[in-house]
Amino acid sequence: MTFTSDALAGRVALITGGGSGIGFGIAKAFAAAGAKLVIASRNEERLEGAVAQLKDMGAEAMAVTCDVRDPEAVKAAVEAAVTAYGGLDIMIANAAGNFVVSAADMSTNAWKTVVDIDLNGTFYCAKAAYPALKASAHGGRFIAISTTRALEGWPGCAHAGAAKAGIMSLMRTLCGEWGKDGIRCNTIAPGAIGDTEGVKRIYEDSGRKELELSSIPLGTFGKTSDIANAAVFLCSDAGQYITGADLVVDGGRNRSRSSTGVALPKTEAAE
Ligand code: NAP
Ligand code: COA
Repeated sequence: MTFTSDALAGRVALITGGGSGIGFGIAKAFAAAGAKLVIASRNEERLEGAVAQLKDMGAEAMAVTCDVRDPEAVKAAVEAAVTAYGGLDIMIANAAGNFVVSAADMSTNAWKTVVDIDLNGTFYCAKAAYPALKASAHGGRFIAISTTRALEGWPGCAHAGAAKAGIMSLMRTLCGEWGKDGIRCNTIAPGAIGDTEGVKRIYEDSGRKELELSSIPLGTFGKTSDIANAAVFLCSDAGQYITGADLVVDGGRNRSRSSTGVALPKTEAAE
């Protein structure tokens, strides 16, 4: 399932963390929908490999090395996009860090590191992109990647849960402040997305893969293309009246499990 090849024609998109996982999935879908791409993160080699693949698809694409914890570097990434492609219509704040450790064992620097990347990084993206998004002829789009875990409490990931909850609050405020500028501000909340660093760290390495799978009504992990399709929709003309939304793409997971993550035992009838 894909969108038409002109669904994002004429748009320029900057995706942080666009060289891997969900961010790269969004970049590929945007390329297929006609957007010009700037992908930004720390690992230059990986970014260049991703740019080569996007160019093979026929897209215009470039990489910018950037640590989202550095507001000046984020600003420079936006400036690079505007200089290269004449503007910026879409900003996707996707870069994040996460690892499993209990709050009692978490060092203060571990907490600060994740909050810096996820929450502060998202704010720096918003602030740097605002003037260009306001000038977009298509109506600017600012999307942050969140998670429904931010609404529950997330044993093992206190830092990421708090940061993502902060992001969701920030996005509601930006929705209120930037509607007058035509900028749509939405979050996409992925469930567990297979073949990603996130699922490897949070569920596979910690031995919780089967438990997680059992809590998903649709029965499988999602694909990066599932998140990418949601992003194309929100950034296309079809998403023009949507702002302030949390688009949950999780196979129903958030509707079917308790906050402790304990799945119900199977009954005979269910087997
Ligand atoms: P991933 O491939 O590890 O993506 C994280 C990206 O962020 C990487 O490309 C990384 O690139 C970049 N990054 C990390 N720290 C950075 C920094 N300080 N500055 C700039 N870039 C930085 O993992 P993923 O699973 O696809 O996660 C992508 C997003 O989806 C995250 O926001 C995550 O919280 C969210 N999410 C994922 C899942 C899932 O199931 N995977 C579920 C819910 C939400 P460099 O190493 O090159 O910097
Ligand atoms: N368990 C406990 N603490 C950990 C940890 C783990 N698995 N990984 C890192 N930390 C701690 C470090 O010990 C350090 O704290 P300290 O100074 O008190 O020892 C702090 O976190 C920062 O670690 P550092 O390695 O210096 O950070 P970094 O800036 O180089 O890397 C991370 C950032 C730690 C988030 C790294 O995992 C990363 O780059 N992640 C990006 C990819 C990712 O997380 N993808 C999944 C997205 S859902």
